[in-house]
Amino acid sequence: MKIIIGNWKMNGNIQQKDKITRAISETQTDNTIILCPPFTLLNGENHGVKIGAQDISNHENGAYTGDISAKMVADTGAKYVIVGHSERRLYHNETNEIVHEKAEIAIKHNLIPIICVGETMNEKESGKTADVIKNMLEQSLPQSESGEFMVAYEPRWAIGTGKTPTMDEIESVHKMIFEYLEKNNREKTPILYGGSVNSTNASDIAKIPHVDGLLIGGASLETETFLPIIKSVK
Ligand code: PGA
Repeated sequence: MKIIIGNWKMNGNIQQKDKITRAISETQTDNTIILCPPFTLLNGENHGVKIGAQDISNHENGAYTGDISAKMVADTGAKYVIVGHSERRLYHNETNEIVHEKAEIAIKHNLIPIICVGETMNEKESGKTADVIKNMLEQSLPQSESGEFMVAYEPRWAIGTGKTPTMDEIESVHKMIFEYLEKNNREKTPILYGGSVNSTNASDIAKIPHVDGLLIGGASLETETFLPIIKSVK
């Protein structure tokens, strides 16, 4: 039983969301499926599928033109929000500090933040993966004792590239993340893997120790690619 999250990024429309949520609701699975479409699709018919946003503001409300608050997302009925995705960190200069604020404000409004961490290819090649991830965990995760959250390990170089780490590499990073969470009495926190997951590699990756689920971009956009993943993962 795993958690499978679809991150639609800046893609999709009402018809596509209707089609895929209906298809997910008709699929036999023990997995928990969460769809994160753009803000414009958070409302409306979800056919009972759990919905999350892809980002929130680090502010409560106010003069932040174009931004969407945690409360607004919670108002739509969504229960989850991705924070600190590498595309936000890269294109919107989001620091660990901002990601931390977003995680805290999400929890305050009863959303479960899915906090993304991951190294660049440069960092990987210079043997810094463990240090980079540990630093991101230390600085991005919420301090609050109360709320639940999830951690997604997404190597930046694996996102949308068709490249994935080896099974051993995923295992070692997930083990490190688990040990970090355990040390902080957060050992029940789900740890997801993301980056070029598809129907061929999903079930093997999901079997790796301490992989509690998958965060899927490109392959979550169409029923033809998303449903086989949902069905293959046990
Ligand atoms: P991808 O994206 O599955 O298209 O590599 C994953 C993500 O960015 O969450």
